[in-house]
Amino acid sequence: MQDCMSIEQEIAKRRTFGIISHPDAGKTTLTEKLLLFGGAIKTAGAVKSNKITKHATSDFMEIERQRGISVATSVMGFEYKDIKINLLDTPGHQDFAEDTYRTLTAVDSVILVIDCVKGVEIQTEKLMEVCRMRNTPVIVFINKLDREGRDPYDLLDEIEEKLNINVRPLSWPISMGKTFKGVYSLYSNSLILFQPSRRELLDDMIQINDLKDPVLDQQVGTNYARQLREDVELINGVYPEFSEKDYLEGRIAPVFFGSAVNNFGVQELLDCFIDIAPIPRQRETEERVVQPDESNFSGFVFKIHANMDPKHRNRIAFVRVCSGRFERSKNYHHVRLSKNIRFSNATAFMAQDKEIVDEAWPGDIVGLYDTGNLKIGDTLTEGEKGSFKGIPSFSPELFKEVVNLDAMKTKQLEKGLMQLMDEGVAQLFTYEMGARKVVGTVGALQFEVIQHRLKSEYGATCRFDSLNLYKACWISSTDKKELSAFVDSKYRHIARDKEGKLVFMAETKAWLQMVQDNFKSIKFHFTSEF
Ligand code: G4P
Repeated sequence: MQDCMSIEQEIAKRRTFGIISHPDAGKTTLTEKLLLFGGAIKTAGAVKSNKITKHATSDFMEIERQRGISVATSVMGFEYKDIKINLLDTPGHQDFAEDTYRTLTAVDSVILVIDCVKGVEIQTEKLMEVCRMRNTPVIVFINKLDREGRDPYDLLDEIEEKLNINVRPLSWPISMGKTFKGVYSLYSNSLILFQPSRRELLDDMIQINDLKDPVLDQQVGTNYARQLREDVELINGVYPEFSEKDYLEGRIAPVFFGSAVNNFGVQELLDCFIDIAPIPRQRETEERVVQPDESNFSGFVFKIHANMDPKHRNRIAFVRVCSGRFERSKNYHHVRLSKNIRFSNATAFMAQDKEIVDEAWPGDIVGLYDTGNLKIGDTLTEGEKGSFKGIPSFSPELFKEVVNLDAMKTKQLEKGLMQLMDEGVAQLFTYEMGARKVVGTVGALQFEVIQHRLKSEYGATCRFDSLNLYKACWISSTDKKELSAFVDSKYRHIARDKEGKLVFMAETKAWLQMVQDNFKSIKFHFTSEF
């Protein structure tokens, strides 16, 4: 008979997180090594990169191929030392940044990978901004120590400065590049010697509680041993003692050094991760704070993957369980539609396989097959009405007007656009004047994806005309009269988002500034949730 665990035990056993990085820093490699540790895959090379290769940015076959891979790797579940780890994949390509932002709403913590040669790169900054908004706990893994990288102190300074977070090294490299000796773990007081391209998974850890121990000199040589002693003294003097509480509140990021491709420093990272990373946390709805150990199930949709089979318009909605126990074949309340729905073929995700699940617990992700009832941000409950907060849309960077090229297919175009927007492919704004439709995206690639999918899935043909817009700003005011006066005076520039929220379409930064100065009672927001 299977042991029955209490909900508290199920929760305590789970860690749900994402890995973020600038493309090429080593996210895929680290993911693979983590899965190897968890026994979820047997050989290296089994995790397909979800990267859209740099050369193939407008190649549809490539995009379609990637769509397939990205479902397979969307959520990777594995067990390590009795902990159930759910790793949520985030697309590396910057054009899909919005997807990544949303996935970050479904995790409880992140591991940030930084390439020691390149340091903090632009994509890292953007992703961390999103983590900082939510005070998501972050562990930093500085990768590729087998290369001649930047000075570790410089890297740490750069992280603090550019990513606006304090750091605390919990391991320290002994040299790098050709002379890389290994790392000293300040977390476990052990020396881990570097052996390039090792096949074994487990790091050889030599316990060194006192750095004066001559074993250190024997292992790495007197000069490196001396340097390490100095470094550790300096680190302990300069950086505050590591506080788990500060980490959990998103104020301090512990830092590890290693080389993912060489399987080096990964075990140490993972061991610390399962010790300190948060268990599934409480979540806010519009009405209250929901605790994971409440007996009633609740969860929200953070990602939709559509049209796995073009003949059947089915989609998989990814639901993060927030509280209670999810049971297959049970009716759940769809808060937005205010109706009960049964999902009989829910799937769980284990590494690259999908399997039917009978139950799931807070922190788990279930995949629900859906024919169009669900969209991103939707909440499911056992009857309660409040929706979960925290899946905002961000102002897009690129805007284009949709021009219908086939009047016979107007309905299909509308439907296709709406469904693609439900999936979160892009955002749609409809001008109050003339009902012109504008699609906003983070990257240029989406326009091609939309055009292609509208044609192949809905039979609709459209053109995108460039528009010169700087930002879409959601507007609000405590003074209803002022708001309506503003809308009247700027009518030509007012649109509604898909939810019907008012949006001011600002043409330039300077103009937006001027409008903001002139209408002090109006608030301009760059995200849809304020
Ligand atoms: P990403 O998902 O963050 O985009 O990065 P990915 O893991 O694909 O890694 C990007 C490149 O960096 C890969 O090389 C990978 O092998 C390499 N890499 C990862 N970790 C390390 C490391 O610790 N040291 C060194 N030297 N390289 C590392 P590639 O040439 O693009 O691909 P591949 O042919 O090696 O697979």
